[in-house]
Amino acid sequence: MTRLIPAVLFLGGIPAAELNQLPSDQLNRGQTLFENSPKGIACARCHTAGKAGNPVGPDLKALAARMSPHDIAALMLARVKKHVQRVDLHDKTSLPAVLIHMGSDATELWDLSKTPPLRRAVSSTEIASIRPFPDWEHPPREAAYSLDELASIIAYLKYTATAAVKPVRAAEVDIRTRSRSR
Ligand code: HEC
Repeated sequence: MTRLIPAVLFLGGIPAAELNQLPSDQLNRGQTLFENSPKGIACARCHTAGKAGNPVGPDLKALAARMSPHDIAALMLARVKKHVQRVDLHDKTSLPAVLIHMGSDATELWDLSKTPPLRRAVSSTEIASIRPFPDWEHPPREAAYSLDELASIIAYLKYTATAAVKPVRAAEVDIRTRSRSR
């Protein structure tokens, strides 16, 4: 089996000294959580937001510029299922994966059974089937972020997307209530 090793393996966190100082405490907290959160798997292991990070899930820049904090929080905590596929192998194992390229000899994918996700190629002879995987759990659902932490992550995402230094309040990201702000 061919194994594709990404040019930069994003295994460790980004050292705190290399994080940029941002213009507010909330943005600094959000950046630290996005890059290195100790809860669950940090977002940057799987997402870019216009810059550094692993492109496993969608880039979050356009979405962060467009959507309200409330709607971004709802997406993070929803059962997202557009991109993740379940790949069943002939050896009876299966794995959640984001497909990168399906060739005739091999399928290149992000293997989400590994932490952090591993980019690799699986030979077509090994694959029995590929189908939707609606039960895949997006890591932030399990990570139990507080509302303050969610607000900080989202403020940081909006800042990287728009350069706006706008505080996000905990109440705006409480998805149990409907938001009136856009
Ligand atoms: C293990 C990898 C992984 C981690 C960690 C992760 N995500 Fe994701 N995320 C994904 C994948 C894959 C998708 C696409 C899921 C699908 O549609 O099937 C996704 C989808 C999303 C979406 C919806 C995007 C869209 O265009 O619909 C948002 C928003 C999001 N993630 C934000 C976050 C944030 C913020 C964090 C950190 C708190 C995070 N994610 C952590 C892999 C991850």
